[in-house]
Amino acid sequence: MKFFVDTADVAAIAELNDLGMVDGVTTNPSLIKKSGRDILEVTKEICALVEGPVSAEVVATEAEQMIAEGRKLAEIADNIAVKVPLTWDGLKACKVLSDEGKMVNVTLCFSANQALLAAKAGATFISPFIGRLDDINLDGMQLIEDIRTVYDNYGFETEILAASIRTANHVAESARIGADVITAPPSVIKSLAMHPLTDKGLDAFLKDIADAGIKIL
Ligand code: E4P
Repeated sequence: MKFFVDTADVAAIAELNDLGMVDGVTTNPSLIKKSGRDILEVTKEICALVEGPVSAEVVATEAEQMIAEGRKLAEIADNIAVKVPLTWDGLKACKVLSDEGKMVNVTLCFSANQALLAAKAGATFISPFIGRLDDINLDGMQLIEDIRTVYDNYGFETEILAASIRTANHVAESARIGADVITAPPSVIKSLAMHPLTDKGLDAFLKDIADAGIKIL
């Protein structure tokens, strides 16, 4: 399973990238706002840092404008994935940009039917939002499972990019179901390393190291 980092914080991306944890990056207008940076400038910097796909989202809502913005974003670097919302206009933009050979990430997906439309429009990635479904007492993980079944039933090649991941359990469940990619904030990716028994075991070893005066160097 591929790990994308869901942030526009270049330093945080660089730290995880040095550890081999970054297969790509996703951004959205809220993350760009949080970075306080110019979208074209920060996206260019991220693309130079990371080898894999870097999703940059259009800001228009009408297809022709989305297509124009998508073309401009794609000029930034070869690893840009143009992100469009799952609206009828977004699907039109997806089809045109995909036919031009650009990677397209269709975002704000909340149903298996929407995911089906995105695959038929040639999306490279579909981004179902787990956390935002959980927020309204619906089952985000069930959506990942449903899309996996639908795509496998018909051999769609669109990759399932599990998004709006808020917890380590979201990551583990996405991997169990077979999502192709997860995108998560750096804090969630780092939290995957944590286990109380690891901490407890290390404490015991450190005590024995000190008691026995064990040295290697
Ligand atoms: C990524 O592509 C999405 O924009 C992101 O995962 C949304 O996450 P949120 O629901 O926590 O804002």
